[in-house]
Amino acid sequence: MKFPKLRPRRLRSNENIRRLVRETKLSIDDLIYPIFVRYGENIVEEMQSMPGVFRYSVDKVVDAVKEVRDLGIPAIILFGIPEHKDEVGSDTWSEQGIIQRALREIKKHVPDIYVITDVCFCEYTIHGHCGVLRGNTVDNDLTLENLKKQAISHVENGADMLAPSGMMDGMVQAIRSALDSAGYYHIPIMAYSAKFASSFYGPFREVAESAPAFGDRKSYQMDPANAREALKEVLLDVEEGADIIMVKPALAYLDIIAKVREVTLLPVCAYNVSGEYAMIKAGGRLGWIDEQKVMLETLLSIKRAGADMIITYFAKDVAKMINKGLL
Ligand code: PBG
Repeated sequence: MKFPKLRPRRLRSNENIRRLVRETKLSIDDLIYPIFVRYGENIVEEMQSMPGVFRYSVDKVVDAVKEVRDLGIPAIILFGIPEHKDEVGSDTWSEQGIIQRALREIKKHVPDIYVITDVCFCEYTIHGHCGVLRGNTVDNDLTLENLKKQAISHVENGADMLAPSGMMDGMVQAIRSALDSAGYYHIPIMAYSAKFASSFYGPFREVAESAPAFGDRKSYQMDPANAREALKEVLLDVEEGADIIMVKPALAYLDIIAKVREVTLLPVCAYNVSGEYAMIKAGGRLGWIDEQKVMLETLLSIKRAGADMIITYFAKDVAKMINKGLL
């Protein structure tokens, strides 16, 4: 059978029938909102390259988290900017570390939001790399030892889930076994499994003060040209005990999301990163694109590609639209 008997437009003729046949839907349930917490007091500062995204001092972060909770968003992912950086990033496992202090405040005042922590070192080291340097390169296995300390400390202070993002080999297994031996067998790991060495992280590095002082991250983050290797990383993380798999960035990597969806039964998370956010904001401000519509189409495409959940700086905007019935 073919045209004129077959006419796909029949199922597009009005919004009611389009609703009935719609295959993908965005929901507040899918969203994770990133929150940046920094040293100092009484600080709420908007980021120049990410309008609508703020950094909060610990005394101000609770109100920000309450807003997210009140919008119905289930989870946040926390990033920290410490006062003092050092060679190894020791703030990440200190009781007085920026993340530890933020976790205690958030858990005390907003116990009903799910808190994921980004587990990495680049915001905490003088050199801005994601681990311990030996010569000019990040030493994988020394970094694993510090990752374990960081992971345990986050959980002791209230983290509900850990998201290691440093792309060290064996990081999921190292953290899983550290958690299990400390009795934290119930804490899940969301692995940044396929994290690419991407220029779309530009604005984040300004916000998190985490740009590498020399070189780049290509010796640990993945080559954007490689899809098969992304699947290898994912399968390794599944074996190492990951509970959720992440692909990052999202937009230029929709093919990776779709492929990952096919090779694992685990939930897949996509990180709609800072550069993706900044481009849409900028285009909207210039009047060159419709910011809201492009935002929705972008997030929908990430879901359609196969993501179960999305980390996005747009989470609050989307939640507001959904709550107003605009979606
Ligand atoms: C590393 C980390 C980065 C991002 C999240 N975790 C930066 C990097 O790898 O350089 C980027 C997030 C974004 O661009 O929105 N701690």
